[in-house]
Amino acid sequence: MTATLMASAAALDAADPLAPLRDRFVPGEGDFVAYLDGNSLGRPLIATRENLARFVDNVWAPRLIRGWDEGWMDSPLTLGDTLGRITLGAAAGQTVVADSTTVMLYKLCRAALTARPGRSEIVIDTENFPTDRYVLEGIAAECNARLVWIEPDPLAGVTADQVAAVTGPETALVVLSHIAFKSGYLADAPAITEIVHRCGALVLWDLCHSAGVLPIELDAWDVDLAVGCTYKYLNGGPGAPAFGYVAGRLQGELRQPIQGWMGHAEPFTMGPGYAPAAGMRRFISGTPPVVGMLAMRDMLELIEEAGLEAVRAKSVALTRYVIDLADELLTPFGVEVASPREDDRRGGHVMLSHPDFHELVPQLWERGVIPDFRPPQGMRVGLSPLSTSFTEVAQGLGLVADLLGRR
Ligand SMILES: Cc1ncc(COP(=O)(O)O)c(C=O)c1O
Repeated sequence: MTATLMASAAALDAADPLAPLRDRFVPGEGDFVAYLDGNSLGRPLIATRENLARFVDNVWAPRLIRGWDEGWMDSPLTLGDTLGRITLGAAAGQTVVADSTTVMLYKLCRAALTARPGRSEIVIDTENFPTDRYVLEGIAAECNARLVWIEPDPLAGVTADQVAAVTGPETALVVLSHIAFKSGYLADAPAITEIVHRCGALVLWDLCHSAGVLPIELDAWDVDLAVGCTYKYLNGGPGAPAFGYVAGRLQGELRQPIQGWMGHAEPFTMGPGYAPAAGMRRFISGTPPVVGMLAMRDMLELIEEAGLEAVRAKSVALTRYVIDLADELLTPFGVEVASPREDDRRGGHVMLSHPDFHELVPQLWERGVIPDFRPPQGMRVGLSPLSTSFTEVAQGLGLVADLLGRR
């Protein structure tokens, strides 16, 4: 690794207005060199370490079951409102924190399909995340619906024209990822939402790779439904629950399929039949995962303090830096950039491609540089703007160049 490379990274860190916020994270220990996977599992905050212990000592232990009446019962909705306000551009009463993304996706897609009787097509793309494809295959089989597949350019993503070409009077629902999990392509959510609405269908955006890394305006874009996970850029910790968004104008019309007692209008009456609660509560099924909701609160506070515009500006700078370094250090070894080069079409991660990455990524992990491997030959470099430094990027990609050079 050259001194010039490290000096250039240090200069970028010195000029980064968000750099001081990196000290809020629990320092990487042991062999930690560069964490390039914050888009898969965010790092813990020091505040979270303290707040988890405080919850056990000051809330759970002394309050015990009384906690349910003292805020836990409403936490899917109160935390949902906070998450919606800070990261989704969603007014209160439209976001819930519950389930896993997979389960929330099933619930909202199934409800959407039932709300469009007489329409039998669901549009999805071949590059969407596996769970989205699998869940919709299941729903299609269950409801006798037909999946209509868009085949996007794998180095980019689904375009508005492609959506316009396959939607029509038969379309019930369109399910797309806002940021593609492999290429990092940032879809034009407002334009696509408008196209879907023109044919009378509903749209669901999977925000797993975009919530917390760039400004989202679900209300302003007139989005119908959205889901996302909270363990990536929202640093909720492994297995933290998902969020779901349902536009207020649709809530009365939608009936979700997992009719549990917690979504009942009067859960503690424990009566014979199911009657859905009003508003977002009807999208809850079972007991809220209270402990799993703690860590993301700290990250939401930090995002609010930093401001999502500033987070996005750093995210663009980091991903651009990855592309510049890849062009300079890695293309001589045959590495290709498999993500959009236009800043405004790129999300928070960059995919690099090389036939040897399958073997190389475990060697990087052994040396404390941690990106993701995505088959068949992709190394996904994830940048979490509040915890990732330019120095980490330089060290990480410098090591990739070293290892490729030794082959
Ligand atoms: C785009 C996308 N959708 C859905 C999921 C699945 O989420 P979960 O495993 O929380 O159900 C993921 C997980 O990484 C994802 O990246």
